[in-house]
Amino acid sequence: MSLQIFPLDQPLGAIVEGWAPGSTLEDSDRQTILSALREHIVLVFRGNPQPSDDALINFASGFGDLVQGSEWFQDNGPRPEILRVNNIYNEQGIAQGTGGSDKLGWHSDYSYVPRVGKESFLNAVEIPKDPPRTCFCNQYRALETLPPEQVEKLRSLRAFHSITQYISGEDPQTTDTPKCEAQPGSAVTRQTRADFLAKRKRNAELGIAKPQIPQAEHPLIVTHPDTGREILYVSPQIIKHIVGMPKQESDALIEELTTHSLHEDNIYCHDWQVGDTVMFDTLGSLHRRDSWDPGQRRVMRQLSTML
Ligand SMILES: [Fe+2]
Repeated sequence: MSLQIFPLDQPLGAIVEGWAPGSTLEDSDRQTILSALREHIVLVFRGNPQPSDDALINFASGFGDLVQGSEWFQDNGPRPEILRVNNIYNEQGIAQGTGGSDKLGWHSDYSYVPRVGKESFLNAVEIPKDPPRTCFCNQYRALETLPPEQVEKLRSLRAFHSITQYISGEDPQTTDTPKCEAQPGSAVTRQTRADFLAKRKRNAELGIAKPQIPQAEHPLIVTHPDTGREILYVSPQIIKHIVGMPKQESDALIEELTTHSLHEDNIYCHDWQVGDTVMFDTLGSLHRRDSWDPGQRRVMRQLSTML
């Protein structure tokens, strides 16, 4: 491949030209892409033939082990590496992907997993007339722009990340009461209680066991293993509390760090075109998504490598 990188006139992001989906990813290509990703956080592959599922998996797996994320979201499709982010429902009203078209708040994919998300790939198959944007926030710069004395205080802190009560439809206090309508983040769109109950019924009929959703603790400051750069690792929709800190103080600190992170100089919002494949530094960024008209289809494929 002959890859060319064109930085966007934005605080982060670059266009990659020359990608040939389905072609073998040479080591030099991988290095070019990773180098650009480290510099720009978000890479937009645009104007290429739409990759098949296999081509997308082959490409993404060139960067690391892929999360088998779709199983956790009860979307057990034929390729668990591909999370089907869409608002398609079958005739029985069962979501054929993650479901929903609501706004999705800031988060980092798979922050609730011991081996967290490292890089992600989001491909646009079908978009609505007024497509929702996906915005990305640079968490390297968020950390670099904090006062040094505050950074030092954060170094000893860890946060507990979990989506269990939302995805499984169970609240830890009332295990028989689905709480799905508040589903806040992760790589999945908000789902309704009916979606979850329908999926659970379908899976029971198919003999698919209820997925065990991981939960994990991570430091508030993490280091990227490839570059040694430090990251402010707040996944505000997914962090439940800072370990050992009173709830009120913990909530206030997460809110303060999130507000600091979301400075306009740290953010790029992507306007989607069909066929776009956006690769982003999952570990080093946050992302969010606008809502869209639920009467219109939006079909995306999402994959992530893990740390
Ligand atoms: Fe996500």
